[in-house]
Amino acid sequence: MNDSDNVKVATPEKWMAGWDRMYAEMLKASDDDLIQLDVRRPVWWFMRALGTAGIDPKEHHILELAAGDGSVACYMGKLGCRVDGVEALSNAVKLANRRINIHNLQDRVTIKLGDMDGWELGTESYDSIIVIQSLQYLLDRTIPRLREIFNAIRPGGFFVYSGNILPHYDTEPPIRFITEEELRTELDGWTFYCIGSDEAIVTKMIKKFDIIK
Ligand SMILES: C[S@@+](CC[C@H](N)C(=O)[O-])C[C@H]1O[C@@H](n2cnc3c(N)ncnc32)[C@H](O)[C@@H]1O
Repeated sequence: MNDSDNVKVATPEKWMAGWDRMYAEMLKASDDDLIQLDVRRPVWWFMRALGTAGIDPKEHHILELAAGDGSVACYMGKLGCRVDGVEALSNAVKLANRRINIHNLQDRVTIKLGDMDGWELGTESYDSIIVIQSLQYLLDRTIPRLREIFNAIRPGGFFVYSGNILPHYDTEPPIRFITEEELRTELDGWTFYCIGSDEAIVTKMIKKFDIIK
């Protein structure tokens, strides 16, 4: 797998190139460093929600869109969940596969190259879907894709989402953040397990670079 395998996506090239550089740097880390699974608040809450709902992780099938370096997929895989991940950059998929191997999760976790927008979701195909810091990059497809995602979650399942970093610097094109009000409207009839602000990306990025040093 090399850079030419990167999936062509609508997300602006300058942003994809930035993440690609980050994953290329992270690939230089040792297995000892990559063993660390750095996940943020929505994932902890998800883990607690599964417990509260009495769901056996081994019976839970998750899709993660734009799975990045595979930390979240492996974290949920270590809990026992079956996780399928999709990510457009080959360096990220390589990184995720290293993590899968380090944690011996080959039987439960797969991360494939793909477009989070084009990926066939089907209807009620997954118990839960995780989308962290990525849906907003679909721009005018953000809300339509959000609806497709909801449609693909089975009754009783969870949507684990993080997206907004406010205030955010201006971008061109503007990132399509989903407001809390929009989420509440789109998710009418769903139970909100928790909702809050997510400033954790700053910490996470620093940690990632710390690992590389
Ligand atoms: C800010 S990163 C977040 C990654 C991961 N979800 C996390 O929380 O660490 C955004 C990710 O979205 C991926 N991405 C952007 N557009 C995509 C698309 N259309 N399909 C698949 N992945 C995409 C990028 O390659 C990058 O890994």
